[in-house]
Amino acid sequence: MIVAIDGPAASGKGTLAKRVATRFGLAHLDTGLLYRAVARDVRRRGQALDDPAAATAAAEGLDPQSLDDPALRDPELGNAASVVARIPEVRAAMLAYQRAFARRPEGAVLDGRDIGTVVCPEADVKLYVTATPEVRAERRYRELLGRGEQAVLAAVLDDIRRRDERDAGRDISPMRPAADAFLLDTSNLDIEAAFDTAVGVILRKTGQRGRA
Ligand code: CDP
Repeated sequence: MIVAIDGPAASGKGTLAKRVATRFGLAHLDTGLLYRAVARDVRRRGQALDDPAAATAAAEGLDPQSLDDPALRDPELGNAASVVARIPEVRAAMLAYQRAFARRPEGAVLDGRDIGTVVCPEADVKLYVTATPEVRAERRYRELLGRGEQAVLAAVLDDIRRRDERDAGRDISPMRPAADAFLLDTSNLDIEAAFDTAVGVILRKTGQRGRA
């Protein structure tokens, strides 16, 4: 079984994807890490993020072993990632890795922006997780404070809005729900409620019986 979970920054899709993977015994890939890692590598080489040749070289040379680098979670890298993610050759280089991951025998959950539309259009279940920008900013803000980092709520909201615009407005693989995706608005749902809804959708779509 392949479960595709897409949605904007801080919508809760990452946490949801992890829990869904555990619940159904599936492997999980946070595809945002791929673009974050490309941005990290371009910077390490002292090159410009919007230089297509530099970003493409970093993408083609990406070491999947380096995806567990904790530095990839740096909030600032999210923005940098959205700059390299607009480059078609970067996306093309990421495609084979994501598809191979998805097709492993035990099945997989992938979360990102274009999983249901481009990476795995054949996914058994597609969820598109959203929440208002204000709710997402509040969540990200609390998450940052919880990690002992400094943050200003207005700046976090600004960052989320800019990133939404860049991700939804790009020409290639823009962030958008697949036509057959289930829309899960978590503005008024906590993680437990969102998880229960997601499990219910998966059980229904795959014809499985069971309790959430
Ligand atoms: O964790 P957060 O939602 O802040 O971001 P992320 O999922 O780590 O993604 C970082 C950036 O990578 C996004 O803003 C997108 O520009 C890009 N991305 C993408 O283009 N396609 C994906 N499948 C996943 C991420």
